[in-house]
Amino acid sequence: MGEIRKRMERRGSASRAIPPASHRMQLKQSMIGEAVNVGIAFIKVASVYLLIGVSLGLYMGISENFQYAPVHAHVNLLGWATMALFGLVYHYFPRAGGSKLGKVHFWLYNIGAIALLLG
Ligand code: HEM
Repeated sequence: MGEIRKRMERRGSASRAIPPASHRMQLKQSMIGEAVNVGIAFIKVASVYLLIGVSLGLYMGISENFQYAPVHAHVNLLGWATMALFGLVYHYFPRAGGSKLGKVHFWLYNIGAIALLLG
């Protein structure tokens, strides 16, 4: 513990002036967590899927070839809508977005989505 903090604590003014060390550590971790938040990553990938899904929809409409309608629907719904929603949730809950489980979710979902769309 720092000397200034010790003195302030003796005076009884430390508890409100400086958050306890454990709290400061928590803030620092959540800031690091936010920096690598999967929320933004999900939204970025979702935007790419939207571009692909909408382009495929336009192609189908123009060519009147609806063969790829299920692909179009899944690219838009699983790629765009679902991932954008994940992104917003993780962005508004940054500790979840910065967690290891969040990262595992991001990679599993993205690998799974590619496998599903190619299959
Ligand atoms: C410029 C944007 C879009 C265009 C031009 C477009 C075009 C189309 C076309 C031509 C079809 C086939 C209709 C048919 O089979 O008669 C279709 C189906 C569908 N679209 Fe889109 N679409 C667009 C955006 C979206 C978005 C953003 C979503 C979802 C978030 C979406 C979800 C679907 C679904 C669920 C189907 C039904 C698929 C099926 O019947 O198997 N579309 N769209």
